[in-house]
Amino acid sequence: SRDIKIAPSILSADFANFGAECEAIETQGADWVHVDVMDGHFVPNITFGPSTCAAIRKHIKGVMDVHLMIAPVDPYIDAFAQSGADVITAHLEAGPHIHRTLQAIRAHGIKAGLALNPGTPIAAVEHLLDMVDLVCVMTVNPGFGGQKFITSQVAKVQALRAMIGDRPIHIEIDGGVTVETAPLVAAAGADVLVAGSAVFKGGSVGNPAPYGANIRAI
Ligand code: DX5
Ligand code: ZN
Repeated sequence: SRDIKIAPSILSADFANFGAECEAIETQGADWVHVDVMDGHFVPNITFGPSTCAAIRKHIKGVMDVHLMIAPVDPYIDAFAQSGADVITAHLEAGPHIHRTLQAIRAHGIKAGLALNPGTPIAAVEHLLDMVDLVCVMTVNPGFGGQKFITSQVAKVQALRAMIGDRPIHIEIDGGVTVETAPLVAAAGADVLVAGSAVFKGGSVGNPAPYGANIRAI
C-alpha cells in the first residue's frame, strides 16, 4: 500500500503567525507544509512572495512544498528556490514553455511539480514524465481555501496513476480534501493530500487539539 503524506496548506492559517502555525502542524504530525503563492493575475487572489517563504522556512523542519499560482512563473523560480523550497510546483496553464520551467526548477537541485487545473486533461503529462517529481491535481479552482471538492477529478486521478505507473512521481491532491474526500483520492492513487481549511478550521495558534485530530483523521 502507498504511504499517504498529509500536507496542510497555510492558506487557511493565521497570516500574522505563520511561524507558530507551521511549528504547531508539524508537532501534530504534518508530513509536508504546503505554501500557496498567489499573484492576483493567474488566480484572483494575492498571498505572499519569496521573502515570506524564506521567513517561513526557518519554522519548517520537513518539506516546504511551494505551489506557485503565478504567471509568468520563470522570472521567479530562482527567488523561490533561494527561499528554501524543497518542491516547487508550477501550473501547466501559467505559460507556453512548461518544459523549460521544469528544467529551471530542477537546475536548482530541487523537486519539480506540475499542477493541473480541473479543466486541464492529463495528456500533457505524457510528454513530461521524465521532468516531474510530482503532479498536483487541483480538485478546486485555484485561488481560495474552503471550497467544495470537484468530484469529477477522482477519475482523472485514477487515469493519472495508470499513466504514471510505479515511476517515482507523487500524485498530490489540492483542494477540498477532508476526512470525507481523502479516502476517495487515496483509493484513486494519490499519495500527498493537501488540506487547508480541514486542518486549520476552528484551530488557533498553538492550539494542538484541532490540528492533531484533523490531520491524523485525514
Ligand atoms: C487553492 C490552494 C489550495 C487550498 C486548499 O488555490 O492551492 O492549496 O489552500 O485549501 P482547502 O483544503 O481549504 O480546500
Ligand atoms: Zn495549493
